[in-house]
Amino acid sequence: MKKYFTTKPVAYLSAAMLLCLPFSNAVAQKQTETAKMNAFISGLMKKMTVDEKIGQLNLVTGGMAITGSVTNNGISDGVKKGAIGGIFGLYGTDNVRKMQEAAVKGTRLHIPLIFGLDVIHGHRTIFPIPLGMSTTWDLALIEQAAHIAAKEATAEGLNWVFSPMVDIARDARWGRISEGSGEDPWYGGKVAAAMVKGYQGTSMKNADAVMACVKHFALYGGAEAGREYNTVDMSRLSMYNYYLPPYKAALEAGAGSFMSSFNVVDGVPATANKWLLTDLLRKQWGFKGFVVSDYTSLNEVSNHGLGDLQTVSALALKAGLDMDMVGEGFLTTLKKSLQQGKVTQAEIDMACRRVLEAKYKLGLFDNPYKSIDPQREKTEIMTEANRKAARITAEHSFVLLKNANQILPLKKSGGSIALVGPLADNKRDMLGTWVIGGEWEKSVSVIEGIKHIVGDNVKINYARGSNITDDATFMKRLNFGPGMVWLDKQSPEDMIEDAVKAAKKSDIIVAVVGESQSMSGESSSRSDISIPESQQLMLKALAKLGKPIVIVLFNGRPLTLTWENDNAAAILNVWAPGTEAGNAIAEVLFGNYNPSGKLTTTFPRSVGQIPLYYNHLNTGRPYSTGPTKFKSNYLDISNDPLYPFGYGLSYTSFGYSNITLNKTKLKGNETLTATVTVTNKGPYAGEEVVQLYISDPAASISRPVKELKDFQKINLQAGEQKQVTFKITPQQLKFYNSQLKYDWEAGEFIVQIGTSSADTKNAKVQWAK
Ligand code: NOJ
Repeated sequence: MKKYFTTKPVAYLSAAMLLCLPFSNAVAQKQTETAKMNAFISGLMKKMTVDEKIGQLNLVTGGMAITGSVTNNGISDGVKKGAIGGIFGLYGTDNVRKMQEAAVKGTRLHIPLIFGLDVIHGHRTIFPIPLGMSTTWDLALIEQAAHIAAKEATAEGLNWVFSPMVDIARDARWGRISEGSGEDPWYGGKVAAAMVKGYQGTSMKNADAVMACVKHFALYGGAEAGREYNTVDMSRLSMYNYYLPPYKAALEAGAGSFMSSFNVVDGVPATANKWLLTDLLRKQWGFKGFVVSDYTSLNEVSNHGLGDLQTVSALALKAGLDMDMVGEGFLTTLKKSLQQGKVTQAEIDMACRRVLEAKYKLGLFDNPYKSIDPQREKTEIMTEANRKAARITAEHSFVLLKNANQILPLKKSGGSIALVGPLADNKRDMLGTWVIGGEWEKSVSVIEGIKHIVGDNVKINYARGSNITDDATFMKRLNFGPGMVWLDKQSPEDMIEDAVKAAKKSDIIVAVVGESQSMSGESSSRSDISIPESQQLMLKALAKLGKPIVIVLFNGRPLTLTWENDNAAAILNVWAPGTEAGNAIAEVLFGNYNPSGKLTTTFPRSVGQIPLYYNHLNTGRPYSTGPTKFKSNYLDISNDPLYPFGYGLSYTSFGYSNITLNKTKLKGNETLTATVTVTNKGPYAGEEVVQLYISDPAASISRPVKELKDFQKINLQAGEQKQVTFKITPQQLKFYNSQLKYDWEAGEFIVQIGTSSADTKNAKVQWAK
């Protein structure tokens, strides 16, 4: 390769130029690499027939992850014919090698396949569900989790993961809220970027790196009524200010691919939406990677009412879709459309080029077998180190919602615990949604985890106490896989009786209850987001005993928990913690780790309050302290959430001083510093997520009552104090105005720092342009 920079010319450069050298060097190197890639791909494409080009745009399923009614059969033949560009839902070095050999050895131009999978929160070693990872507020842990997932995925031959899912969600009825990072656009962007970095590493050519696929582009989380696959209708202002930022942040972190969403965006299905896939994504944002459809979402454009398969395939190609997942719309219609002048050769070439570029960036043309290493498959999966990382991440993800009279942590010796509930002696539901490679048999149940910590030092009286649900119709829907939810041989009444007996013999009750694995995730919307009735009946029977109840709550979404909040002594929200669930839960219950998670979604009191989110607009008739006539409120319930965004307790307590500002009048690009002193006032060391919010009370458009702008997670010993300083620049005051111009406006701003979105110290500044 030609060397553009040698040590010799550098000797003649001035000191100032030297300072710029690393940057210009990197730019020049990137340009050289891009030129080399372009030349290689142009050369290859010159040899390709139209059929071979269209073949590259076809993504088929290997059958290990079916999420729709259509599947692809006879994929070996398709590969050999050059009619397939990639396979997803197939992993394991033997499986992958067989297909890769068929492509590389069996086709005329030896073009490798790309192998994708839904690796969503770990591949084999399962980490907490993404919503849980987000409540760690620990970007390094999140990046590490993605990196470990990439290592395990590549060890089984994969090179592309359908993650991160960065859809903002304000509606807890939507089951896929479990797969995202909650309701905040800024924080969602931070998590998205951390995940992209974790997956793609320093170079996608590395043997342990995968290409990320940002999904679902776009606005998928805005589905009306929280009903899966439903219509989305929103203003451009809402898109730009609240829903689009995490996709953009993932792009800026270098994500190699995007997945289009199932919904319409401004009336046009995302998969065939030119404004979205070309004008916004490529022209405004400068995306250089490729876009794949979601599972048959191209075919579904017909159901949205835009025409038959040939018509919608042409529309999607022209809109900027590059690869078609499962539905074979591109494969079966594009050639005809080309012959009929409905698409151009240049449009097919562009999509083909982008898919080939992805393979090039992954190093697959250098070595199509780069991640097909049976040795790594044996040694790098489910290692002790990976499991430990999953346990630590899980511990950090738990959110302590209530802890009356400091009932937690529990004592490690002496006394007795009634351990009850359908999730207490349960391995499958520890993993949560989307665990294609996850092996639930290898997960740690809560009862196992507790025994690891207390051994025989605490008497454990176990009873299942209730089924996940007694509702046969609901159960049938949950059982999309065999044996997921099952009915006990005992009657519900006898089960409750057993739990009551166990509780009578015990000092304290630990009830492990909530949602099972299949209650959240794709196609798992719920209209009632409370704990299922069977479990509530058990809790209510136990509450009559007057003994303290600690609820260990499994949930893939915010739940409505008013009864539980009123009647339980403590609630530890553990989401679905993953492979190491039981160990992580026990570490926290018995105080080896002091919980530090904070909510990234608002918990409503009632499903009727949804959508409920902290960064709402003020309205013209804002609610203040309680329902009042002719104000924006309900007759029958307060507007307040049960638990607000950013909320989460600790076994210790933190005190906040007032805010000290370096100045209260600023101009232009000055930097404001806002400082608080945080004191650990309790008996335990602990971590606190110190949150910075800003509000902009007078602007050219109505602005949210507050917006998260920064946070710091700090560690304080008992009695320790720390000063926490945030630097604020006008960059953080920017928003999209009515002209969709991203700028800030002079005036008053209220700086708010605190322990949650609902509990902050406030200070005002004036900022002139
Ligand atoms: C449909 C889901 O919406 C998407 O997130 C997933 O990646 C694909 N199926 C592939 O499994």
